[in-house]
Amino acid sequence: MLVTDLIRRKRDGAELQRDEIAFLVDSYTRDAIPDYQMSAWLMAVVLRGMSRAELAALTESMLNSGEVLSFSELPAPKVDKHSTGGVGDKTSLVIAPIVASAGLYVPMISGRGLGHTGGTLDKLESIPGFSVNLSVADFRRVLAQCGTGLIGQTKEIAPADKKIYALRDVTGTVESPYLICASIMSKKLAEGIDALVLDVKTGSGAFMKAEKDAVFLAELMVETGQRLGKRIAALITDMDQPLGRAVGNALEVAECVDILNGQGPADLRELCLVLSAWMFLLGKRVQGIDQGRELAEQMISSGKAREKFREMIRLQGGNPAVVDDPGLLPRAAQTADIKSPASGFVTGFMCEQIGTAGVLLGGGRARKEDSVDPAVGIMVHKKVGDRVTAGEPLCTIHYNSAERLQQAQPLIVQSYRIESAMALQKRALVHRIIGDQS
Ligand code: URA
Repeated sequence: MLVTDLIRRKRDGAELQRDEIAFLVDSYTRDAIPDYQMSAWLMAVVLRGMSRAELAALTESMLNSGEVLSFSELPAPKVDKHSTGGVGDKTSLVIAPIVASAGLYVPMISGRGLGHTGGTLDKLESIPGFSVNLSVADFRRVLAQCGTGLIGQTKEIAPADKKIYALRDVTGTVESPYLICASIMSKKLAEGIDALVLDVKTGSGAFMKAEKDAVFLAELMVETGQRLGKRIAALITDMDQPLGRAVGNALEVAECVDILNGQGPADLRELCLVLSAWMFLLGKRVQGIDQGRELAEQMISSGKAREKFREMIRLQGGNPAVVDDPGLLPRAAQTADIKSPASGFVTGFMCEQIGTAGVLLGGGRARKEDSVDPAVGIMVHKKVGDRVTAGEPLCTIHYNSAERLQQAQPLIVQSYRIESAMALQKRALVHRIIGDQS
């Protein structure tokens, strides 16, 4: 098979066969196809889309590129949650300990920052010593011992997604519902889970900006999960402004600790409770969402979720003392406030720009080989609906390079919409639910 032929046919809108897609995925995973050819093919998919048969072939080739785990020996249901990506979207770090502390298993395979969005793995790696690169044997051990483990795609599990994800991050090939569906579902289906809750973001900080596109993506993923026998629900949630107040790896870990301590921003806490409740429901730990929410609240107020987070950090080689003293997390050398140019109300954000500013500060990657700066980021003080006076800080930038600050600052300033009156209604956090509502 000629790769150039497969690229040209996809470019021209033809439907590829199952064996052709399997050949591409397999060859790229084995380093037999160079990055430039795979990037060209991915771009053709972004522009042309895929048929359902092509999507199934892509997802299954990516899933079977590595080991498909089974945890049938574990005595309780295995459940996970995955987000399609947002700005300040850090719920995994809170939810995994909440759900595991109530007796379900949460084997979580996550990703790094992608495009303008942050990634769970980069956030976890800001905890000194924390390893997301566990072998399958170590992942099993951590999961059995503590009820949750958070790792990345490896050479053993979802290796095709590991390579394709890193390539998409830096080639403008993220925003395709087909590529997002295959990426997420290949990882999640390799985890040996019984049920999955998807957090599908919509709004100016999401990959799917329009709600109808988010719904389409949610339907693709729910369909894929159900075909492979999983209980699955997708919540379409708001990403029109950063979630919580922290954007940036170590800053976000500190904010997660606040939530586990029963504090922190209300929107982040609320989304963590709702997603945990759905995990409890699909994991058959509770009979209804309200009961699930109460259970999640109890896991926080009793301190059990915080203890679980500490245990997970310790078992994965990190310094658990960050839970008691977030000051042990990396800190940027400098900070700069962005002041409001006018008095009035914050009525909106161009939220993607806040994420891009975080990448420019060094919190994400411009090239595959780049490492991230765990300390940099943005603390958002004013959000939609907040009143501001001219000169008051809208947010604080944490930075380590004046040059990077100069690139990021204008994006943040332009991102804020400030108007004299607050005409607008606040958007709901959860817009709708698709899939298993049992
Ligand atoms: N999360 C993933 O794991 N993959 C994507 O493509 C987007 C979000």
